[in-house]
Amino acid sequence: MSMKVVPTAAVLGAEIAGVDLSRALDDPTFAAIERAYNEYGVIFFRGQSITPAQQVAFTRRFGEIEFNIFGERWSVQGNPEIVVLSNVTEGGRPTGVRRAGERWHSDMCYTARPPRGTVLYAIEVPELHGLSLGDTEFASAAAAWDALPDAMKRALEGRRAVFDFRGRKRALTPTQEEIDRNPPVRHPIVRTHPSTGRKCLYVMRDDCTGIEGMEPDEAEALIAALADHIVKPAFVYRHQWRPGDVLMWDNCTVQHRAIQDYDMPQRRLMHRTTMGGAVPA
Ligand code: SIN
Repeated sequence: MSMKVVPTAAVLGAEIAGVDLSRALDDPTFAAIERAYNEYGVIFFRGQSITPAQQVAFTRRFGEIEFNIFGERWSVQGNPEIVVLSNVTEGGRPTGVRRAGERWHSDMCYTARPPRGTVLYAIEVPELHGLSLGDTEFASAAAAWDALPDAMKRALEGRRAVFDFRGRKRALTPTQEEIDRNPPVRHPIVRTHPSTGRKCLYVMRDDCTGIEGMEPDEAEALIAALADHIVKPAFVYRHQWRPGDVLMWDNCTVQHRAIQDYDMPQRRLMHRTTMGGAVPA
């Protein structure tokens, strides 16, 4: 079966059919996948069965693996590149990060070089009465930019926001060492996607704690207004997971949040890999 790109009905996202990620991808197939990834912001492959090593190898095609604080606590044995996201406990101990990413965000935006993107492989998906739970929502920061009035676009161009690791309430409490390792950074509020040239809003609640050259009250109000604008229903795709889904998102084009509408005995288990990125411009 040859590869097919099937866009979702939303402003972002596409299913890639006809690809088996447990096999090595030839260069033309990989190039077509990368084009779809850049264009749609989120792509997903249904019905996959991959080993941790195959997930790492696939992720590496897009860039070097990025490590984050979750992986230092919960990774797959023998594969430190894979972070385990799970609500499952064994012997009373968590087996993975629970309640990861429940507020709208873009991964590791508090670093100087935020990751290009993230890959999630769904191994167990919670369900109740035959309905799946634990969806993930994605918002197009590119469509949100396009929809802004011209006067607002002009006012935002060239502005930079402060991103502070301490701003977001996390699934785990960071240590002082982790806080010291992640001092506040500044990024443009309007990013240009390095491959497509599309402009994307890069601002969110919690992580963004200020705007350069703006009074704190004014900055807080603008951050809230833009953050709310980005996640308007018109710009959102909601992914309903199935076991065997491999989904990847682009951290410049989209923001995301995990819906926490399940609890034990409904089990959720995902393997996450992250690929390194560039300084936002
Ligand atoms: C995340 O923000 O990486 C978590 C996404 C999810 O578990 O759906």
